[in-house]
Amino acid sequence: MGTQEYMQFSRKESGVLVCANVLIVASPHHADAIDWSEGSDALPGLMVLPCENTASVPVEAAAAASLIVLEIDPHNRRSMERLGELKRALPELPVVAALPDASVALVRMLVREGVDDVVSLPFKFEELLETAADVLAQKRSKRHGDIRLAPLFAVVRSIGGCGATSIATHLAGALGEHDTTGRGVAIVDLDLQFGAVAGYLAAEGRGSIADLLVEQERLDEELIRSVARDAADNVHVFAAPDAIMPLESVDTDRLLRLLDAIRQQYAYVILDLPANWTNWSLSALTAASSVLMVVELSVASLRQARRRLDLFSSVGIVGNEVQLIVNRAERRLFKTIDVGDATETLGRPVVGSVTLEDPLVSTAQDQGLMVHQISRKSRFQSDVRTIAQALAARFPAGGPA
Ligand SMILES: Nc1ncnc2c1ncn2[C@@H]1O[C@H](COP(=O)(O)OP(=O)(O)OP(=O)(O)O)[C@@H](O)[C@H]1O
Ligand SMILES: [Mg+2]
Repeated sequence: MGTQEYMQFSRKESGVLVCANVLIVASPHHADAIDWSEGSDALPGLMVLPCENTASVPVEAAAAASLIVLEIDPHNRRSMERLGELKRALPELPVVAALPDASVALVRMLVREGVDDVVSLPFKFEELLETAADVLAQKRSKRHGDIRLAPLFAVVRSIGGCGATSIATHLAGALGEHDTTGRGVAIVDLDLQFGAVAGYLAAEGRGSIADLLVEQERLDEELIRSVARDAADNVHVFAAPDAIMPLESVDTDRLLRLLDAIRQQYAYVILDLPANWTNWSLSALTAASSVLMVVELSVASLRQARRRLDLFSSVGIVGNEVQLIVNRAERRLFKTIDVGDATETLGRPVVGSVTLEDPLVSTAQDQGLMVHQISRKSRFQSDVRTIAQALAARFPAGGPA
């Protein structure tokens, strides 16, 4: 048995997040030949266990994995036996067989032995990634059956203070107007150390998202609803904990299961995210129906937005899944940077822009109110409403039927 390398793996396939521990068990020369340069940053939780293709797979190592890529020599009885041993020990573990070349007859035989898919040897990074992602996505959708997941919008900032939390909270309220399910809109404050959502909405209560992240109990409706705090406009707040929580204490799989469970209970789910990017926060993004990046029309904001978008691309979050919201837009005739410049610089569509309305927004937040509760004619509010309308038109409440 050799060394284990831990790398990152996170990928989105057909709207389904795949984020998992993938264990590659391959003979040392194939294991050593993997070319990580093709995408090492994009793979959290990938382990390589170099061992001869006749040696038994250590069950503890395999049990910790979500998927195993196993080198197989179909002409070697011992190599086939170890596949059988593994399937008997861990019948639920998805297995991808790795072999130099496979005929149709051979693939059929391997499928009968319980193999989910096949990759070729020597390993090709892209093929490995695609196949693992496909198999995990299939297993996941089988588990979900026909469960509906509400649209999940992740609101991320370009630079600190650009208004991400203000827009997230008001968007939650505005999406409530499109809630045809009557279940309400959830806002989950994943800014675990500095979360402001509960404060902005005066959502009193004791429960916090931390209760659901550490609980080992089943994530049923009763437990979830008991933690949510009620706010105006039928918004339900999963608040950040009062005590500062270490970011590395979050378990990615647990968080993803939790987000799925919340999505089953509400019409829409909004995420507010922390400033620093970790495996779990990036994984949460890959689960989102759409990532909404809040930018301002300043060089600093657009530069930071660019850096974040590059990071997102490296983990497979690309294209129209990321949309821009321009905050503090001013209706001046002559501007150095306008909305068109933001789209052009960042290569992402703008879903809407939100007017600067100072000090109305912060005055409302100081009182724990939504802006429309203190001013009926707020431009900020009507801009956010327009964005909610555009999102609701694309993403029906409660998720696709
Ligand atoms: N369009 C706006 N008009 C007026 N004030 C705004 C607007 N957007 C945000 N603000 C104000 O800017 C301040 C920062 O907003 P907010 O907390 O939403 O930003 P953030 O991006 O979440 O910040 P952080 O990086 O601290 O999480 C708040 O006082 C808020 O009231
Ligand atoms: Mg914030």
